[in-house]
Amino acid sequence: MRLAILSDIHGNPLALDAVLADIQSQGEVDAYWVLGDFAALGYDPVTPLEKITALPHASFTRGNTDRYVVTEDLPVQPEKALQDPALLPQVIEATRSFSWTRGYLSAAGWLDWLTNLPLEVRLTLPDGTRLLGVHASPGRDDGPGIQLRHSDGKLEQRLAGCEADVVIVGHTHVPLDRQVGRIRAINLGSVSNPVTPGLQATYVLLDADEQGYRIQLRRVDYDREAAIKAIEHSRHPTPSFLTGFMRGERVASSDPGTGLANVLRTRRRNEREQTTAEGDSGRIITNLATSLLVETISLRIAWDDPFYDS
Ligand SMILES: [Fe+2]
Repeated sequence: MRLAILSDIHGNPLALDAVLADIQSQGEVDAYWVLGDFAALGYDPVTPLEKITALPHASFTRGNTDRYVVTEDLPVQPEKALQDPALLPQVIEATRSFSWTRGYLSAAGWLDWLTNLPLEVRLTLPDGTRLLGVHASPGRDDGPGIQLRHSDGKLEQRLAGCEADVVIVGHTHVPLDRQVGRIRAINLGSVSNPVTPGLQATYVLLDADEQGYRIQLRRVDYDREAAIKAIEHSRHPTPSFLTGFMRGERVASSDPGTGLANVLRTRRRNEREQTTAEGDSGRIITNLATSLLVETISLRIAWDDPFYDS
């Protein structure tokens, strides 16, 4: 059997069409999983929904931005702007952006579909491998998700009790494939709103039979200039935020999952946990100081990025 797994389409039918064409070029697919963030932060919230709900044997899960569209939740809590007025522009921008998407989807009759999305999807593969699909991490459609910079210990906590052998997520828009204890954690990246160098759409093809399974991360180019033009003609209230993804402006600030800095960060955290276990107080203090600095930088990145909302 073959399963195509994608996520984070973000109202970009151009990117979705390129991914669906690539899936077709690879042969027959038995089922699709689409793991959330369907419509918001994009120029055309409706067309991708029409396309993916027409796919055969498709399952869907809720992303954090889908929840923001249908509830009062926002990536930046308005109450925080009362304590820190510097946050007001972010609150206003987020409110305008998600209100625009909500109105668009409401007029087209999609709000109920978006409201009723499940949090997770599960499947047992022919060889007995238990597969879990969820937007950010087991039990969550938001939060830090699953990233390369997270230590093994932190990821083990995040994956604990998930009752799966393979966990597939999106949310951070940064692909990864990582073994954490007995669990394989895979981030498929995103169809749209790229934050990694290359700016391609990414998704996963999973082939499985009685002997085992194989996972393939696919990278797909599409016409980002056409997407920029479509955004500029869409009357979306925050066009420069959207075109920034297509122009690669968000790669440096929101891609903590790649590069040397990330490798060093992960190594420091693993060392800190190991040192803590050994009881070496001098090294604990040094490593905690390093980690505090890294956390401060990471929090700054997280604060700037609406996808990292906790
Ligand atoms: Fe997303």
